Amino acid sequence: MKAVIVSRFGPPEVLQFREMRAPVLREGMVRVEVRAVGLNFADIMGRLGVYPGIPNPPFIPGIEFSGEILETAEEVHMFKPGDRVMGFTPQGAYAPQVCVSAQHIRKMPPRMTYEEGAAFSVTYMSAWHGMKTLGQVRPGETLLLHAAAGGVGTAALQLAKHWKVRVIATASTPVKLTVAKDLGAAHVVNYVEEDLRKRVREITGGRGVDLVMDSVGGSVFRKSWKLLAPMGRYVLYGFASVTGARTLEKLRMLREVVQTPLIWPPNMVSKNVSLMGFNMYFLTDKSNYLHTVADELIKLYAKKVVRPVIGRTFSFEDVVAAHRWLQGRKSVGKVVMSVP
Ligand SMILES: NC(=O)c1ccc[n+]([C@@H]2O[C@H](COP(=O)([O-])OP(=O)(O)OC[C@H]3O[C@@H](n4cnc5c(N)ncnc54)[C@H](OP(=O)(O)O)[C@@H]3O)[C@@H](O)[C@H]2O)c1
Repeated sequence: MKAVIVSRFGPPEVLQFREMRAPVLREGMVRVEVRAVGLNFADIMGRLGVYPGIPNPPFIPGIEFSGEILETAEEVHMFKPGDRVMGFTPQGAYAPQVCVSAQHIRKMPPRMTYEEGAAFSVTYMSAWHGMKTLGQVRPGETLLLHAAAGGVGTAALQLAKHWKVRVIATASTPVKLTVAKDLGAAHVVNYVEEDLRKRVREITGGRGVDLVMDSVGGSVFRKSWKLLAPMGRYVLYGFASVTGARTLEKLRMLREVVQTPLIWPPNMVSKNVSLMGFNMYFLTDKSNYLHTVADELIKLYAKKVVRPVIGRTFSFEDVVAAHRWLQGRKSVGKVVMSVP
C-alpha cells in the first residue's frame, strides 16, 4: 500500500509517499480502510521529533481517522466488515489501511461524514477530558480558553456553550477571534497583540478565571497562571508555542521553555489553585472511561450540540501542504485529509 512516512525528523517536506506492507491484523484488532484522516498538532510535534513516545523514522504517522471496516480478528464481535467507524491509533493512520484495537474505535452516527468522523475522536475527547473530567467545570464559571479557534478549541467552545460556561477565548488573528465569537465565546482576546493579563482582569473585574485550558504553554502559561481565581484549576495539555512555522526553531523553543513559570507548591496551597496535565496519547488503555466519554459525545452529536468545525480539507496527496497549513498557524478548526 502507498502510505505517507516521516522519512526523518524535520520540516513538512520530510513527509514522503512510500510503498509499505499492509499492517498485520492481530488479536483484538480490526482492519479499517481509511477514508479520512484528522490532523492533530501532535502530528507536527511528532514529525519534528519532539513528541514523547514517538517512534524513530521511518514510520507512518497519524493518530485519528475514519473509515470502513474490512475485516475483524476472530474474537471481535462488536464490529463487522462494512461498518463505518472513527477512532484513534498510536500512529499509522496516514495510510489506505490501518489495523487498530477494537477498543479504540466507535461506530459513526448514520449521518456523520467521513471528514467529520476523522475530526471527532481526539478533538472532542480532549476537550471533554480537560474541561469536564479534570477541570470539573460548572455552569456560570469562567473559562480562559487558549487557541480557541483551533481543532480542540472549537470543540471546547461548543461544549462550553452547552454546559453554560462563560468563555474568554484567545487566538492570534481577527479571523480566528471572529470564529471563536461566532461559536459562543463571551469575550475574545488577541493574545499576541493585547496584554492578556490586563484584559482578563478587566473582563473578570479583577477576580480571575475558574478554569484555564492551555495548549500553548511557555509565555502564555506564565501569563495565565496568575489569572486563576481562588479554587481555580489550570489544565495544561500542549506546548504549541515551542514550534516555528516550518522547523522547530531551537532558539524560539528555548525562549518559550525559559518563560514557563516556576511553580512553588506552597503557593498553590495558599492561593487555593491547582495544576493538572493530560496527554490522551498515554490514556489509550483506559478503554471503559474513553468509551463512556465517546458515547456521551456521540449523543451530543445526534442532538446537534456538537458539530466538528472543519476549516479545510486537503486531499491525501497534499499532505505536505496540509502540514504547512497547520504548523504555519493558518488553520481554523480542524484540518482533515480525505483518502481516496
Ligand atoms: N495532551 C493531549 O492529549 C492533547 C490532545 C489534543 C491536542 N493537544 C494539544 O492541543 C493543541 C491543539 O491541538 P489541535 O490539534 O487542535 O491544533 P490547533 O489548535 O488546530 O492548532 C494549534 C494552534 O495553536 C496555536 N499556536 C500557538 N502558538 C503556536 C505556534 N508557535 N505555532 C503554531 N501554532 C501555535 C495556534 O492558534 P493561534 O494562531 O490562535 O495562536 C494554532 O492554530 C496542541 O497544542 C496539541 O498538541 C493535546
